[in-house]
Amino acid sequence: MTDHMDTDKTVSIPRHVSIIMDGNGRWAKERGKERVFGHAEGVESVRACVEAAAEAGVKYLSVFAFSEENWNRPSAEVGYLMQLMRKVIEGEVDSLAERRIRLLVRGHLDRLGPDLAADIRRAEQRTVPADGGEPLMTLVVFLSYSGKWDILQAARKFAAAAVHQPALLEEASEADFARFLVTADLPDPDLVIRTSGEQRISNYLLWQAAYAEFLFVDKMWPDFRKDDFRAALAAYANRDRRYGKVK
Ligand code: FPP
Repeated sequence: MTDHMDTDKTVSIPRHVSIIMDGNGRWAKERGKERVFGHAEGVESVRACVEAAAEAGVKYLSVFAFSEENWNRPSAEVGYLMQLMRKVIEGEVDSLAERRIRLLVRGHLDRLGPDLAADIRRAEQRTVPADGGEPLMTLVVFLSYSGKWDILQAARKFAAAAVHQPALLEEASEADFARFLVTADLPDPDLVIRTSGEQRISNYLLWQAAYAEFLFVDKMWPDFRKDDFRAALAAYANRDRRYGKVK
């Protein structure tokens, strides 16, 4: 009996937790401050969740940091966010590497400009464990990402591959197609958390979240800290995942 319960506990830690970090602007406005102040405070929540996730044994933590749609925000806010991304990535990379946390950035990175894209690639390289072993955890930052964009870019690559491999058109499985998504080397999310009380997927991991559990929490992202992350894991442990089957 004890063995059985232990096994269940291990299974109940999600392998991949993904977060739609929402409510930074509202958090700032509620305090009579500019929206960007909420983004800066939101970085502290990212730090807290990275720590909580690594401590709990989560293997992949991903965050939706900037969507393709976010490019349509006022240029001052977009500029601030891009500067913040660069500062955070540059500032955190050593600490991530020391803790064996691998950083990956995924999205439509061609839109970022060559300097930021190059900084990102360098930061990713710095967090590859030097001994060739497994990282403790992988942190994925989705930047200039949208689910429809990902599926479309995958479809383009799939079509190009099919020119040389016509059998793909008849026989490709879902797994064969998923190899062209920018998440090809990542497991699908088990748990997607969205803060700020909004209950939408907002063009996030549309393909990958097909069977994810969703948790919507009312707190704004800058208020979502370690205890909230742990509470989310506890809520996940009580879910009954059936994948469309009967248990
Ligand atoms: C959503 O709040 C948040 C964002 C669009 C930006 C989130 C980015 C960070 C916290 C920086 C993290 C950086 C790294 C490198 C991980 P919102 O602006 O949509 O808030 P609102 O819904 O209240 O307007």
